[in-house]
Amino acid sequence: MDIQQRYFAAEGRYDRAQTLYARCGRSGVLLPRVSLGFWHNFGGVDPYERSRAITHYAFDHGITHFDLANNYGPPYGSAEVTMGRLMDDDFRPYRDELFISTKAGYDMWPGPYGDHGSRKYLMASLDQSLRRMHLDYVDLFYSHRFDPDTPVEETLQAMVDIVRSGKALYLGISNWPLEPLRYAVDYLREAKTPLLIYQGRLNMLYQKPIEEGILEFCREQGIGFIAYSPLAQGLLTDRYLEGIPADSRMAKDHFLHPYSRTPKLLDYLHELEAKGRTNGRSIAQEALTWILDQAGVTSVLVGASSVAQLENNLAVLN
Ligand SMILES: NC(=O)c1ccc[n+]([C@@H]2O[C@H](COP(=O)([O-])OP(=O)(O)OC[C@H]3O[C@@H](n4cnc5c(N)ncnc54)[C@H](OP(=O)(O)O)[C@@H]3O)[C@@H](O)[C@H]2O)c1
Repeated sequence: MDIQQRYFAAEGRYDRAQTLYARCGRSGVLLPRVSLGFWHNFGGVDPYERSRAITHYAFDHGITHFDLANNYGPPYGSAEVTMGRLMDDDFRPYRDELFISTKAGYDMWPGPYGDHGSRKYLMASLDQSLRRMHLDYVDLFYSHRFDPDTPVEETLQAMVDIVRSGKALYLGISNWPLEPLRYAVDYLREAKTPLLIYQGRLNMLYQKPIEEGILEFCREQGIGFIAYSPLAQGLLTDRYLEGIPADSRMAKDHFLHPYSRTPKLLDYLHELEAKGRTNGRSIAQEALTWILDQAGVTSVLVGASSVAQLENNLAVLN
């Protein structure tokens, strides 16, 4: 890489620290209220320079938290490969300013050891993630989902040992139901590797973590909560008001089905649009504000397929 292309982070990136960061539960960690997710738009199928521009914009504006998982892509693993390339090209000098998470829990490689919650899978997966991301450690390692067929102690002890090995600094849990979550909180506290954060899907259209008491439990226990898919994968934006754009997630990806663009949703979006007009906010900003106003929410974990989207989302903190 020649000197022209070298990345120098914006000097003013922490100018808005007072409004940008929130304490993650009862911990020493501050997270940006808007964090960046690598589930889509950072895979091997996506243009590297676009992914790179999005991360530059993020970091230049104080977004220090990048969220990954072993199988983000597509193909699986390739978002972490992108992260590794970004480390080499741009972010190595800023490693200590970044809070990078990864996860294991869903299908990753073939055979009996590449899925679910065994010690074998979690340990091997994190080693692979570190190799792909060119990192010595991650800041945060998550169990990506609860596995009812593996003894919960096996999963939790593997997580404890991961922290003790120095490969992760903190632990997180994602998508676990409340009862095993309660058990995990006690177990990890007892082991002196307390749970830092819970990652759950939360948005105006999907409120299970509130309905099931998970958000309240986290707040009571001093555990942070980070909301994923806060824009319902783009449904809670202006993206689908006029149709299904060819470059949208709904057109490209099986995770967001065209049948979710219902007349009821469109009515709701028009209401949000009108409300947003009164408040000087976009639909996306209305949706993000709603989450950030919930007591106990540390951060919203947004996805973005362009710098302009991220800019729009980050402006929610203005
Ligand atoms: N723990 C888990 O099980 C889990 C599951 C899912 C996600 N996550 C995490 O959460 C992160 C975010 O998830 P997500 O990508 O579903 O989040 P999201 O923020 O709900 O959706 C992101 C998509 O919305 C559209 N969008 C974003 N900002 C926009 C704006 N201002 N205006 C118009 N459209 C906008 C874009 O769609 P287009 O691509 O169509 O432009 C973008 O790709 C993931 O990257 C991952 O880190 C975790």
